[in-house]
Amino acid sequence: MIVDVGGIKVHQGALDAGQQAELVEQVRRVVRAAPLFRPETKRGGKMSVRMTSAGRYGWISDRAGYRYERTHPDGPEWPPIPAIAKDIWRDVSGVSCDPQSCLINFYDADAKMGMHQDRDEANFEMPVVSISLGDDALFRVGGPERGGKTQSIWLSSGDVAVMGGEARLNYHGIDRLRTGSSTLLPHGGRINLTLRVVD
Ligand code: SIN
Ligand code: FE2
Repeated sequence: MIVDVGGIKVHQGALDAGQQAELVEQVRRVVRAAPLFRPETKRGGKMSVRMTSAGRYGWISDRAGYRYERTHPDGPEWPPIPAIAKDIWRDVSGVSCDPQSCLINFYDADAKMGMHQDRDEANFEMPVVSISLGDDALFRVGGPERGGKTQSIWLSSGDVAVMGGEARLNYHGIDRLRTGSSTLLPHGGRINLTLRVVD
């Protein structure tokens, strides 16, 4: 079922249990090659999520700001985007080119993500596709201006959200997890993958 939340299309249950487990395996392979790190923000704080990337570009935040980079902070190029994530992009993105970046965020029980826009990409005609694995997360969606009215939806393991069209620049964030709501990850928590075309 597809639910519209402020223009963002949430494909509930897009991945079945087998695909979710296989994607977790593929994410583990990425994390072995490109270890998770906890990014700093421009103002010197630390983000509460740990992250890494796959694909031609990875998204980085540090004291110099937000940007895409061709290499992991430790030096190597990013590993390839997990095949299942690419398949999902092809199914739901509505565009013919492939994603160039897959940002992987790991949320532990207390992690959250403040309201923000995804706007470090060159072409906003290209959607952002977000895949949820593990514990449910309360996803808040606003409009294209900061501080506007918001709506919320719980994203569950296997849900895929497409931020495109009019909703491409909508503010969004994660308020909290519902810990223990999924048994997919042995130690709990949540993995979110976001696929983007960068240039
Ligand atoms: C993000 O906006 O980068 C992540 C959204 C999510 O974790 O669902
Ligand atoms: Fe985002």
